[in-house]
Amino acid sequence: MTSYKELGFVNTREMFKKAIKGKYAVPAYNFNNMEQLQAIIIACVETQSPVILQVSSGARKYANQILLKFMGQGAVEMMKDLAKTKGLKEIQIALHLDHGDSFELCKSCVDSGFSSVMIDGSHHSFEKNIELTKQVVEYAHSRDVTVEGELGVLAGIEDEVIAENSTYTHPEQVVEFVKKTGVDSLAISIGTSHGAYKFKPEQCKKNEQGVYVPPELRFDILDEIEKKIPGFPIVLHGASSVPHEAVKMINQSGGALKDSVGIPEEQLRKATKSAVCKVNIDSDGRLWMTAAIRKAFKDNPSEFDPRKYLGPAREALLEMYKHKNEHVLGSAGKA
Ligand code: G3H
Ligand code: 13P
Ligand code: ZN
Repeated sequence: MTSYKELGFVNTREMFKKAIKGKYAVPAYNFNNMEQLQAIIIACVETQSPVILQVSSGARKYANQILLKFMGQGAVEMMKDLAKTKGLKEIQIALHLDHGDSFELCKSCVDSGFSSVMIDGSHHSFEKNIELTKQVVEYAHSRDVTVEGELGVLAGIEDEVIAENSTYTHPEQVVEFVKKTGVDSLAISIGTSHGAYKFKPEQCKKNEQGVYVPPELRFDILDEIEKKIPGFPIVLHGASSVPHEAVKMINQSGGALKDSVGIPEEQLRKATKSAVCKVNIDSDGRLWMTAAIRKAFKDNPSEFDPRKYLGPAREALLEMYKHKNEHVLGSAGKA
């Protein structure tokens, strides 16, 4: 059994308190490999942003759960060294399980050094969701690990679960859910969805610049939720913006992605001014990484040293994470 405190992580309690007060959101970035992790840490140290490193169960299967834990621990040490070298402050890092689907998985993460876990019971009935979430909270809290629950269903793929349609969070359920489970934060469904295909162009309007703008997130539902549980930490999943330039670069370099529209950054900025204090971003990183690798292969077809195409991918990720922290989530300078 390893406590996250020995590894240098923090839980999300203080992070969220500060974020709600300061009207910004802590970035939650998924990682599966070294280049993603390096880019996240460098970007967050350089922008002096707290960060939540997210591991999905898919990531655990892909990269090996033991290796991921030590990668997380290595990231903390790398962060300390970088901060010292650059004369900057050390940043707070949480290691978080993304979309845990069982008590056993959450327990295993708590026992192996995670400082925060999500139990996603959103596909169960309300009663079963409460029961499962409460069970995880009781175990996690006994080790001072924070827990994120979810109410409402996002469309898209969450690990092995595919939801065709979203169900918005019912504000009238949040008080009972939060009270009965004891969760520390709540993921809600207000119109975001997972993956790179969020909105088709035909579902959007074109603005004066010719950019597709999707229907606005349901800020009315968010407002109602905030009225029911004032100051309670809210989490936004499925918050990638699907940058057109990345999709274009992929398609110009031999890729074949369909046109798609993500969550406009303007709407995310607006959300961070509320009790939304954690914003999950994975797909945008996947898109930029793919774009940079495809471009490197196209520009240098004879190259076969992985550092020559993974290096540019890491650079592209670094720029993207810095941009999110500085210009979208407002977490830069809040370390
Ligand atoms: O919400 C899902 C995250 O983007 C993680 O995706 O399960 O394919 O690792 P994954
Ligand atoms: P995106 O697919 O929009 O990046 O969402 C990621 C996410 O919610 C991870 O939990
Ligand atoms: Zn998610």
